[in-house]
Amino acid sequence: MAAQRGEFRSRLGFILAAAGSAVGLGNIWGFPTQAASNGGGAFLFTYLVLAFALAYPALMAELLIGRHTHRNMSQALGALPQHAGLKRIGMLTGIGGLVTASLILSFYGIVAGWMLGFASSYPLEAIGFTQSAEWLITFSTPRNLTLTGIFMALTMSVVVGGVEDGIERWSRRLMPILIATLVVLSLYVLTLDGAMTGLSIYLRPDFSKILSGDLLIDALGSAFFSLSLGVGTMLIYGSYLSDNEHVPSVGAQVALLDVGIAVLAGFLILPAMYVADARGVAIFNAAGGLLSEDTLIFSVLPALFSTMDTIGLWLATAFFILMSIAALTSSISMLEVPVAYLIERHGLSRHRATLIAGCSIAAFSGLIALNFERLFGLVITISTRYGQPLLGIVVCLFAGWLWHRDALLAELKKNDTAADQRWFWKIWPLYVKWICPIIIGVILVRSIL
Ligand code: PHE
Repeated sequence: MAAQRGEFRSRLGFILAAAGSAVGLGNIWGFPTQAASNGGGAFLFTYLVLAFALAYPALMAELLIGRHTHRNMSQALGALPQHAGLKRIGMLTGIGGLVTASLILSFYGIVAGWMLGFASSYPLEAIGFTQSAEWLITFSTPRNLTLTGIFMALTMSVVVGGVEDGIERWSRRLMPILIATLVVLSLYVLTLDGAMTGLSIYLRPDFSKILSGDLLIDALGSAFFSLSLGVGTMLIYGSYLSDNEHVPSVGAQVALLDVGIAVLAGFLILPAMYVADARGVAIFNAAGGLLSEDTLIFSVLPALFSTMDTIGLWLATAFFILMSIAALTSSISMLEVPVAYLIERHGLSRHRATLIAGCSIAAFSGLIALNFERLFGLVITISTRYGQPLLGIVVCLFAGWLWHRDALLAELKKNDTAADQRWFWKIWPLYVKWICPIIIGVILVRSIL
């Protein structure tokens, strides 16, 4: 098994790939409406504080363990402790991460398929293929199976190229397109009637709302999901990072980009909703809250686009391409988790590993699509509500308690001889040892109760 390990060619390549993993469907369809319904600017502020005070340290735990061991999650966690029993727990946790990443990908692939369907239906409709266009945006099992299959094939075709020629190359191509599209769409929408109302609702701080405990817990939960934590994606990307890079600062740039893009998405989604409102499209649910998630993406926004003639067609296509790109750069990071494990632990070639992991996950997606009512929500709950935080706790415990302080400092000193003078060294080890596990534990217990 002497297969050579991949390594990101450049810092920018790594940052775009890791930010690509982090920036996904969650940022664009979850964050903006959550912010608007929960105190606007005050939520934004809380989210920023939580992301940097709690999610960033957990991200650093994954990146540092990955970079230190240059291994997949299972072998990396198995390598940190000395004690044989703990090594076994580490390896099993890594396998738990792999299973959870695969479960997330299995439902994510279905949703991403819908994005592909909407993105292609607008141009098809414009050139007269009305029936196909309608089929692509109407919920049905054959449509879900077809589009998920296509999306999984796309994901596999990137991952099979490896770290440099697959993941890094495509992240470098797609992330700038994603950011540019988001900026152009928001600038355009901001010129329309009603947009300023949305903007002021997004940004107006209502501090009375953020004191609610549930809100803090929700914001923290979404920060963890958004930074792709717990399942080994950040760990495996960290393992492909060169020893010359300063992990605390590249990690901070990744977190900043992720949060920055979520905030930027708010400048598109909220104004767009109030533009829709000004044009008579319903944007509130029966309880008076803003429509969100799937209703927002698949009914409110299409209804808005349809009030706009030709420009609406372009906007709609651009928007759903944006969503498809956001999904793809995340899904490749999820698939890389089992693929890296199969290559490093079982000596498979990247081709075989990608084929086996990709097809098994696609088959599971198929099973979900065939039993949609029963399985879709269940898989989301198991993987994101319980799996991710639980694994996140174990990763923090490994970094905080089982990684020898001298070895950790040596890791930080690889490219920063004064690492022991930095605030990072003074604060972070205590953070991952105590604060992160306790707070994630509280979230987990609360979400179970
Ligand atoms: N961070 C991604 C998003 O916001 C989801 C994700 C979770 C990606 C876990 C990888 C691993 O959509």
